[in-house]
Amino acid sequence: MPEAFVESLDNEGRGFARVDGKAIFIEGALSGEQVEYASYQRKSRYEQAQAIRILKPSSQRVAPRCPHFGTCGGCSMQHLDISAQTAAKHRVLEDALWHLAKLKPDVVYPPISGSPWGYRNRARLSVWHMSKKDGTLLGFREKRSSHVTKMDSCAVLPPAISNILPGLKVLLEGMSVPENIPQIEVAIGDVQHALVLRHLGPLTAQDMQRLRSFADRNSIVWYLQPDGPDSVRLFYPPDTPPLAYSLPDFGLNLRFSPTEFTQVNHGVNRVLVRRVMALLKPVAGERIVDMFCGLGNFTLPIARSGAAVVGVEGSRDLVDRARSNAALNGLDSLCQFKLANLFEVTEESLAAMGHFDKMLIDPPRDGAVALVNAIGDDGPQRIVYVSCKPSTLARDAAILVRDKGYQLRGAGIANMFPHTSHLESIALFERP
Ligand SMILES: C[S@@+](CC[C@H](N)C(=O)[O-])C[C@H]1O[C@@H](n2cnc3c(N)ncnc32)[C@H](O)[C@@H]1O
Repeated sequence: MPEAFVESLDNEGRGFARVDGKAIFIEGALSGEQVEYASYQRKSRYEQAQAIRILKPSSQRVAPRCPHFGTCGGCSMQHLDISAQTAAKHRVLEDALWHLAKLKPDVVYPPISGSPWGYRNRARLSVWHMSKKDGTLLGFREKRSSHVTKMDSCAVLPPAISNILPGLKVLLEGMSVPENIPQIEVAIGDVQHALVLRHLGPLTAQDMQRLRSFADRNSIVWYLQPDGPDSVRLFYPPDTPPLAYSLPDFGLNLRFSPTEFTQVNHGVNRVLVRRVMALLKPVAGERIVDMFCGLGNFTLPIARSGAAVVGVEGSRDLVDRARSNAALNGLDSLCQFKLANLFEVTEESLAAMGHFDKMLIDPPRDGAVALVNAIGDDGPQRIVYVSCKPSTLARDAAILVRDKGYQLRGAGIANMFPHTSHLESIALFERP
């Protein structure tokens, strides 16, 4: 079995080693470790491998909490101490900014972290019905495979959901046509735990009765999805109020439907919103734009300051949702929402929205290259950029600094997704 000394962690949480000059990316290996590994993919310039035996363990290695770790594709870093995970993610951000954009922030913000377990308020669980005899699998996909993990609990899902996984499997096995259920989505609000049952054929009266009794026994709310995302409807209990989460620092309550985008980790999101507001410093009388505003997660806290805010978003449902959230929180006079495809924004279409004193950008993983390119001489004096992919943040940061006259004042991370390699980052740009 080949051996390697692991030099560092890469941006997917894998150990990086060089063997005879060739790069080897080793899952399950940590920085500073000597490991035996087996390659599962060999290319001329690199190999992808799995650690087989840890010959010299790192002092930061810990026992994974979850019995499914290693097989399940949901987590990749449970074997690394949580504070070392946060430090590693911070390095990923610094490396991306330096290697891809040659930028160093003036200030490094302290990382934002929350509870490392039970934090995952949204999840899509796959279902695989094997046979009457072998039963049903329900869980995340296995690593590097389309198979569903055989799991009876999950340490990153809220305990109330983890605890009912075995019962959910029994429920699915008893459905009239179990093969017709390909997935269950989890969406957690402050009060309700919702499950969205995707079903490919009609449910019988008996199926529906089974769903109702399961909901009563386990205090969950069922939504049904017979078709695409637009077909999602509340099923039971029928008088359930809408899902919602609160941002107590701003006296806000935001409603959402179970398939709409919300930040995965409510605890970290609360701190993230606070941090964003501290950097943006909105004040009454200013005009601020919240780009990629979703259901108003940042728009409404900005409006609470008394600033006038325009939220721009590409999903019509989310624009409607943001408008009704503004109204519910008594902020509609300060908020305006616009439907726009921000991947196609131009200098002209951005200028047509009028002058903004400040801008918040929170794009999906693709980043906001069209938007930053569209910023003209009349652009905002301050931009706060929240990113879920360091490489696209670095690309956009380079444009803001090189071409648009901004300085990178600060950057930091939020460990929104503990035990995975995903990270959320925040950067502050200012024009002198
Ligand atoms: C990372 S989410 C942020 C949402 C919101 N800021 C929040 O914190 O909940 C990115 C948002 O960008 C929206 N989006 C994706 N592609 C878009 C596009 N091309 N134009 C405008 N919005 C888009 C998504 O619908 C989603 O609401």
